[in-house]
Amino acid sequence: MNRQGNVATAMPMGAMQPGAAPSGANNASISNNNAGGPPGGAPVPPGAGDGGSGPHALDDPNVYHWICQLTYGPQKEQALLELGRKREQFDDLAVVLWSSFGVMTALLNEIVAVYPMLEPSRLSNQLSNRVCNALVLLQCVASHPDTKHLFLQAHIPLFLFPFLNTTSKQRTFEYLRLTSLGVIGALVKNDSQDVISFLLRTDIVPLCLRIMQSSSELSKTVAIFILQKILLDDVGLGYICATVERFYAVTNVLKEMVEHLAVSPPPGRLLKHIIRCYLRLSDDLEARRLLRSALPEKLRDNTFTTVLADDVGSKRCLAQLLLTLNDEAQQTQQQQQQQ
Ligand code: TRP
Repeated sequence: MNRQGNVATAMPMGAMQPGAAPSGANNASISNNNAGGPPGGAPVPPGAGDGGSGPHALDDPNVYHWICQLTYGPQKEQALLELGRKREQFDDLAVVLWSSFGVMTALLNEIVAVYPMLEPSRLSNQLSNRVCNALVLLQCVASHPDTKHLFLQAHIPLFLFPFLNTTSKQRTFEYLRLTSLGVIGALVKNDSQDVISFLLRTDIVPLCLRIMQSSSELSKTVAIFILQKILLDDVGLGYICATVERFYAVTNVLKEMVEHLAVSPPPGRLLKHIIRCYLRLSDDLEARRLLRSALPEKLRDNTFTTVLADDVGSKRCLAQLLLTLNDEAQQTQQQQQQQ
């Protein structure tokens, strides 16, 4: 792999032997150091890190310790938690996780081990938390520009589908779905075509649709965010508008959400995403034609006027959507009159 060079410099395990690490007394200054640069007075091993400007994960001896624990045990569960806590602190944690021997395998093991437990009576809080901590680390790898594509090439998102496919409303399952969606959300965040093309080869759209229908508010928001990102991509829009069945599968769920939001204020971020999904659908000519009758009435009347009062962006999107559909309606009428 052509990234090997990077990886080698990012993982100078030898430089981080416990003996070379700063003493425990220095740990406080390490964790208090958020400003970037080397922690207070601690020697920085030459070549450590990947040349980025923030603090490097491997300058923190605890990171090395928890990576070893995660790979070899016995404190795997605590290692998942502790490394998850470090992800905000170090920009390069994703690179370290990806390139450290055995770490990805350990994370995938955590995930696969839970598959047989995906029944409400078997999935304990502790187990759900544990696997969610593993997912948080996968999300870290999925978000980083240097590891995202490797993560995708290794088809790791497929490991999340059994979790996305669950339907139990139990909190443990909600948490699992939300965290798994977070990984996919991180992948689609900075639009890249390869991510979308990969996802379109999976069943992500029907899974998102089901979550948008029946999961918690938070999961619904991440699921519709993913759908919106797919729609914004030209291939994604083409995929959804390729058949009438797909178009209606999507718009029926959007419509259901609108109906629900109309009676359960406040709609929060969901409405914003819904409007943008409709607007993007209207870029496809056939979808535009069908939307004239498929758009929920509640988006045409004043149901959401007050809700949208301080969201200029969404108000504009809605106005543009209605205008586009209206223009189309007038044109069709004119054509019919001419015939
Ligand atoms: N294999 C199904 C299809 O190609 C996947 C699917 C089910 C789907 N429901 C969908 C795709 C809704 C897009 C929208 O149609």
